[in-house]
Amino acid sequence: MIDDLWYKNGVFYCLSIGTYMDANGDGIGDFKGLLRRLDYLHGLGVTAIWLMPFQPSPGKDDGYDISDYYGVDPRYGTLGDFVEFTHGCRQRGIRVIIDLVVNHTSDAHPWFRDARSSPDSQHRDWYVWADKKPASANKGMVFPGVQKSTWTHDKEAKAWFFHRFYDFQPDLNTSNPYVQAEILKIMGFWIQLGVSGFRMDAVPFVISTKGAKVRTPVEQYDMLRSLREFLQWRQGNAIILAEANVLPETDMEYFGKDGDRMHMMFNFHVNQNLFYAMASADSRPLAKALAATEPRPASAQWGLFLRNHDELDLGRLTKAQREVVFKRFGPDKDMQLYDRGIRRRLAPMLGGDRRRLELAYSLMCTLPGTPVIRYGDEIGMGDNLDLPERNCARTPMQWSMEPQGGFTKSDKPCSPVIDNGPYGYEHINVAKQRRDPNSMLNWTERIIRMRKEVPEIGWGDFHVIATRDPAILAIRYDWRNNSVLFVHNLDEKPRETSFSVGLAGDEGKHLINLLSEDHSEAIDRGKHTLTLEAYGYRWYRVGGLDYLLKRRDIDGVNANHPE
Ligand code: GLC
Ligand code: CA
Repeated sequence: MIDDLWYKNGVFYCLSIGTYMDANGDGIGDFKGLLRRLDYLHGLGVTAIWLMPFQPSPGKDDGYDISDYYGVDPRYGTLGDFVEFTHGCRQRGIRVIIDLVVNHTSDAHPWFRDARSSPDSQHRDWYVWADKKPASANKGMVFPGVQKSTWTHDKEAKAWFFHRFYDFQPDLNTSNPYVQAEILKIMGFWIQLGVSGFRMDAVPFVISTKGAKVRTPVEQYDMLRSLREFLQWRQGNAIILAEANVLPETDMEYFGKDGDRMHMMFNFHVNQNLFYAMASADSRPLAKALAATEPRPASAQWGLFLRNHDELDLGRLTKAQREVVFKRFGPDKDMQLYDRGIRRRLAPMLGGDRRRLELAYSLMCTLPGTPVIRYGDEIGMGDNLDLPERNCARTPMQWSMEPQGGFTKSDKPCSPVIDNGPYGYEHINVAKQRRDPNSMLNWTERIIRMRKEVPEIGWGDFHVIATRDPAILAIRYDWRNNSVLFVHNLDEKPRETSFSVGLAGDEGKHLINLLSEDHSEAIDRGKHTLTLEAYGYRWYRVGGLDYLLKRRDIDGVNANHPE
C-alpha cells in the first residue's frame, strides 16, 4: 500500500520542453532532446517529472493556451516521440505528470472558433457568454496591470466572453456536462500514453461557477471527486496535483475529508511564509503556516516548492510582511509583478550566496511534503529581467560552455540564453558543475539522495520544537518507531541554541548527523546545545545509526511492544 503512494515521498522536477534541450537545431527544445537528457535526471535522482504544456498552441502564454488537447505541438515532436519519452522515463523509474489546462482554451481552439461562429453552434455553451458587458468586467483579473478586464467583446460572436486570464484564453464553461465529459476524455487519453497523473492548472477557477450573473463565484468541490474517481478507475496509482492558491481553511475541501479529491496540492501558504522567514530571519509565521496546513488526509500530500515558472506570489502575506520580502529579494519595481509578487529566479534573489541557497533547499526538502524543484535551480541559474513578465525566469537550460549554453545549435533560440554577467552560461552550466565535487549540482544531488533516505518526512507526523529563538526552526518527524530532526538557522549571524528533542526517556539523547561527523549528545537534563553557523542547517537521525532501523511494518498496532 505504502509503495503505491509514490507521490508521498518523492522528489519532483518541473521542466518546460521548449527550453530544455533542442535536438534538431531549430532553436526550440523537443522530446528527442529531452529523451537524451533523461540520464541526467536519473543521475540527479528525481523520482517524477512535471512536464509543462507541450500540446499544439499559439504559444502566447508559454503553452497555457492550448488549441488541441490530443496532440503534441509539431515544434516539440510527435505523439510517437512523446510515448518514447514516457517509456524512457519508466525504464529509469521516473514518473511523468503533465499539465492539465482545462479552465480555458486558446481562442484558436476549434471549439472556440465554432462557438463564436453562431449562437446555435454545437460548442456555443462550451464557453461563457454575455450579450451586454457585465458589470463585473473590471473585476477578478489574474494579471492586474497587464490584463484589462475579464470580459471581452467578440465581433464574430456579437457577444462578450469571459476570460479569467488573458483575453486570448476564453474560459471553458466547466459546469457544462459535455465539457466535463471532455475533460475526463483528455485525462484518459494521456494516461493511456504513459503518464502517471496531472498537475491541474488553476483548479479554483475550473470548479467555480462562471457567468455574467455570478457575483461571487462558488466552488463546486464535488467536481474534484468525479475527476479523481474517473482517473483511479483508469489507473489506480495516478494522481492529480492541484494548483490552488487558497486559504488553509479550504484545504480540506480540495483534499476531501475522506481523501477522495486531490492527491496533492502545492503549498502556496507555506511558500510565501517561507520566503518571509528567509527575508526576516523570523521563523514564527512559517511555523504558524505549517500548523495551519497540517491537517490533511493520510493519503494526501503537499507539493513543497521555492520558485516555479510564475511569479513568487506574496498575495497572502500582510502588507508589512510583503514589504519585507520585496525589500530583501526584489527591491526594484521591475523585479516585481502583478502588484503581488517577485518574478526573479531563486539564485539572484538570494544574492547567489551558496549558504542561503543551501538553506533554502534544505528547508524545502525537510518541510512536510514532497519537494518540487524548478529546472535550472539545481545549478543556480539566473534570470533575464529584460524579458517581459514571467518570461524572465523561463530562459533555456544551461548545459555547457558551448554556444547557446549547449541548449541548441541554432543561433536563434526561442528564448535568449543568459550569456552575460555572473549567471551567464559560461559560468553557470551543468558540464562544469558535474566535474566539480563542491558544485551546487553535486550538492543538490546529495541532498536529494538524503531526502529519499528519510521517508519520515513524507509519511510521519511533525512537531515544531520550541527553541525560544525566532531565527531557529527545529522540526522533528516521527514515523514507525523512528524519528528525524532538522534544525535551520535563518539568520546571517551564527546562533547558539538549545532544545529538548521531546521524546520520552533516553530516546532523544543521541542525534546522529546525516550530512557530516558533527553529531550531538544531550547534556544537562536531556538538552542539546548547538552552535549553527550563519544560515546553517543540520539533519539528524534521532537515536542511533544502528543500520537496522527500528522501523515497524505497519502503523498503529503494537505501539508499545518491542519488535
Ligand atoms: C497558471 C499557470 C500560469 C498560466 C495560467 C493560465 O496559473 O501556472 O503560468 O499563465 O495558469 O493558464
Ligand atoms: Ca527542436
